[in-house]
Amino acid sequence: MNLKLGDIALNFQIATTTGDIDFHDWAGASWVFFFSHPADFTPVCTTEMGRTAQLSGEFEARNVKPLGLSTDSVEEHLKWIEDVNATQNTTLRFPIVADKDHEIAQLYGMIHPGESETAAVRSVFIIDPNKRIRLTMTYPMSVGRNFTEILRVIDALQMGDKHKVACPADWKPGDKVIIPPSVANEQAKDLFPQGWDEIRPYLRMTKV
Ligand code: BEZ
Repeated sequence: MNLKLGDIALNFQIATTTGDIDFHDWAGASWVFFFSHPADFTPVCTTEMGRTAQLSGEFEARNVKPLGLSTDSVEEHLKWIEDVNATQNTTLRFPIVADKDHEIAQLYGMIHPGESETAAVRSVFIIDPNKRIRLTMTYPMSVGRNFTEILRVIDALQMGDKHKVACPADWKPGDKVIIPPSVANEQAKDLFPQGWDEIRPYLRMTKV
């Protein structure tokens, strides 16, 4: 399945390390950071699972629920979590999907045969409370994800939704944002009474 930005994230029912879930029910009114891994008991994956657990407070502050996936069983995941906790000095509490039959990995296009016929690559789906896919990223098996970027893009999406703005390259919270060209100056006066810098008519920067 080739899921695109703006598509509804497909629903599924599956066993996880915290019990069986219906994905949409489990997500509820939260954002979701849904991310796949090649396999349990592998080094890069262990650091990524640990980092996600270490950042649980950051995800919670943004109303984001992490949901991991790898193509092993619940029993294997639970044993692996013991290793993740011990080696990454954390306590992993979010669910990990047990996708032994690749059902969800196929549904979400996480199997890339050029990398592996049997294991998921490092896919990321950021899903909003309306269940719309807002960001996808795909990393190869050999490179761990950048969690600073994952939090940054969630901040940027939530900022854009709240203030009807876009975020420039390398934006981080506190930086100036862009008034999109779709907002005419007359409307911008209402939306951004604090004013803006007009660098070009199509490039207007403001602080929110
Ligand atoms: C890892 O997590 O280290 C890994 C898993 C599968 C292939 C390559 C690396």
